[in-house]
Amino acid sequence: MSIDRSVKIAPSILSADFADFGRECEAIEAEGADWVHVDVMDGHFVPNITFGPQLCKAIRPHVKTVMDVHLMIAPVDPYIEAFAEAGADILTAHVEAGPHIHRTLQAIRGAGVMAGVALNPGTPAGAIAPLLDMVDLVLVMTVNPGFGGQKFIESQVAKVAEVRAMIGDRPIHIQVDGGVTPETAPLAVNAGADVMVAGSAVFKGGSVANPAPYGQNMNAIRAALA
Ligand code: DX5
Ligand code: ZN
Repeated sequence: MSIDRSVKIAPSILSADFADFGRECEAIEAEGADWVHVDVMDGHFVPNITFGPQLCKAIRPHVKTVMDVHLMIAPVDPYIEAFAEAGADILTAHVEAGPHIHRTLQAIRGAGVMAGVALNPGTPAGAIAPLLDMVDLVLVMTVNPGFGGQKFIESQVAKVAEVRAMIGDRPIHIQVDGGVTPETAPLAVNAGADVMVAGSAVFKGGSVANPAPYGQNMNAIRAALA
């Protein structure tokens, strides 16, 4: 099985207007988003709290592309069913979130959802070597998770290249998340990443009332890759 390795932009709604998520999802899709990235934080695995399965369920009718849910929570397993029922297309769990990531990934696929595994900046690529036959996506964090608007950590580019080599011809997406801009996206893509998560770089300057900057910002990232 092969997958589409062309570059995709997945705006993170962490940078959207929290009072208007439904219309924000529609606006970024109308402006050309390929996927919608949903950052779930629990105030325990990461030092910030965002939202949970109910929000995912509420925005699902407003997302026509791919609802890509990044779980920055620990534990993960008790919530998989709820996120699956909320309509997630992809559920990504962190390899650092607990001792049983293998079981977590089995449970995600068992719930009928594509499975992703995420690596914090301090975690080596080798941590996911035993998991590659059970994931659809590897997320290489290019900031320490918890907040938008942080600086891209360049040392992670080598990790992207390592993951790309490990994957071989398996049908697995490589996603980068954190500090992705027109300046940093080419580094990640050249190393083998195909899904660019971007929050501030997509949402800056725009709004539901004035969505054109969302499209311009995404085009600036694409143009930098051309
Ligand atoms: C960080 C989140 C990211 C974040 C990216 O914990 O996982 O998705 O929102 O934001 P920017 O693009 O602003 O770095
Ligand atoms: Zn994320």
